[in-house]
Order: sequence, then structure tokens, then C-alpha cells
Amino acid sequence: MIELVDVGVELGGATLLRGVSLAVPAGARLGVIGPAAAGKSVLVKVMAGLIPPTTGRLIIDGTDVTGWSEEKLAPVRARIGMLFQNYALYDFLDVAGNVGFPLAQRGLAADAIGPRVLERLRAVGLAGSEFKQPSQLSGGMKKRAGIARATIAAPELVLYDEPTAGLDPVTTSKVYDLLRADHDASGATAVAVSSDVAGLVTFVTDVVFVYRGQIAYQGPAATLADAPDPLVRQFVSGALDGPLEA
Ligand SMILES: Nc1ncnc2c1ncn2[C@@H]1O[C@H](COP(=O)(O)OP(=O)(O)OP(=O)(O)O)[C@@H](O)[C@H]1O
Ligand SMILES: [Mg+2]
Repeated sequence: MIELVDVGVELGGATLLRGVSLAVPAGARLGVIGPAAAGKSVLVKVMAGLIPPTTGRLIIDGTDVTGWSEEKLAPVRARIGMLFQNYALYDFLDVAGNVGFPLAQRGLAADAIGPRVLERLRAVGLAGSEFKQPSQLSGGMKKRAGIARATIAAPELVLYDEPTAGLDPVTTSKVYDLLRADHDASGATAVAVSSDVAGLVTFVTDVVFVYRGQIAYQGPAATLADAPDPLVRQFVSGALDGPLEA
């Protein structure tokens, strides 16, 4: 579905990613973990086509899209849904307007958008909140509205950047229940960045550990606690020595 080949990203004189090679097959569920500022969000933004690789290649469904213009990338991006780390709900739109936005952007008529918005809001447990403003939502409701918006256009790949950050344990497990049910039904490929490793591994089958802009480890989610890389074991157990900053 998506492949990064020896990708490097330099921005503002800093190296944010280095030698990142990663293949995510169609239908896979990949988790991305690692310390703060390691480059996790940059990595998923590269996958979404939002940050161009400085070096290396980005391949989507077998097509090398490296260096494509915004205009040429637009139909490729339309197949990718993204939940941003900072919610990124539009404050000038109500919940229904936010969730339906990707469909409106594609030129769908309002009467075709309405039923799909209601279906998504029901799926994420936000039925009845369609006329609320983003400022009236709790953190968990904002995350769920963001998930509804990221998935409404039936994308083949959905990128979730911290879908549960700042949520209580009960809401967190509800969000992961939702992601599992949604992806069981859609079969869409998922990449999820999360600092909540215990929650994340209930959803993903494989995990990459990002450290200082590189993929330091990749392995199955089920055996993460016994990963051969001591850095990964220490991170997962919360005992990573030294500064966490990448
Ligand atoms: N657009 C940008 N321009 C310059 N530097 C950036 C940009 N985006 C991110 N960075 C830098 O890249 C590094 C990695 O950032 P990134 O947001 O990917 O971290 P992260 O692993 O997602 O961390 P967190 O867990 O805190 O979300 C940071 O040092 C950050 O300051
Ligand atoms: Mg981040």
C-alpha cells in the first residue's frame, strides 16, 4: 500500500528523518512508537504526502510519487485519511460540517453528505452532537470527531497520530474498540502513532520504534515487551535511561 525507501527529511537545517525504509502492505495495521520529538509525526506526515522527503522515495500502491506537485498528489491524498495529533477541527464549522468536510471537498451534494455524516457520528458514538461547535466538545469527543472525519471518505489508508493522547483509560479503550471495529469492517490499512503502547497493541499487529529520526526496531506487536532490542524493551517498560528527547 505504502512504501518508504531510504527516506531522509531535512527541515529548517535539522535532520528530522534519516534512512527510513518501511513497507506497509494493504490491510496491515502498523503502530508507531518512540520518545517525544523522535520524528513519529513527521513520519506519518511523509506517508500522507504532507512533508516531501528530502532524499529517498515514497511509493504509494506501486507508484513512485516522490517529487510530485501538490496538484498531481491530490488524487493520491484523497485515498488517505488522517487524524492529526492536535485535533485540527475547523472552529468555523460545527461537528457535522467538520466530519462532512472531506466529502464536501470532493464536491458531493449536501443531501448525499448528510446520511454519511450521521452514519459516521453513530459509529464513533457522537450521534446527537452534529450541531455542536468544536469548542463545546471534550477531548475524547474531539478525537472521535477527528476519527469520523478521517474515515468518512472510505480511505484505503488511515493515519492516526495519537488517537488517544490526553484521554482517560476508559475512553482510550473505547477509541481502540472503535478503531478495531472500523478496520475489521473496512479492511483499510492503518498506521497509528501512540504513546499508549498497551492500548496501541490491542489494535496493531506490528510496531516500529522511532528513535532520533530513524527506525531503530520493527517487530510484531504481540512480543514487543520481549523485543531483542534493549532500547525497545526499556522504552516499553518505561525505563529508558537518559534523555528521552531525540
Ligand atoms: N515542520 C517542521 N519544521 C522543522 N522542524 C520540525 C517540523 N516538524 C517537526 N519538526 C521537528 O522534528 C522533530 C520531530 O518532530 P515530531 O513532531 O515528528 O515528533 P514526535 O515523535 O511526533 O513527538 P511527540 O511524541 O511529542 O508528538 C522535532 O524536533 C520537531 O521540532
Ligand atoms: Mg507527534
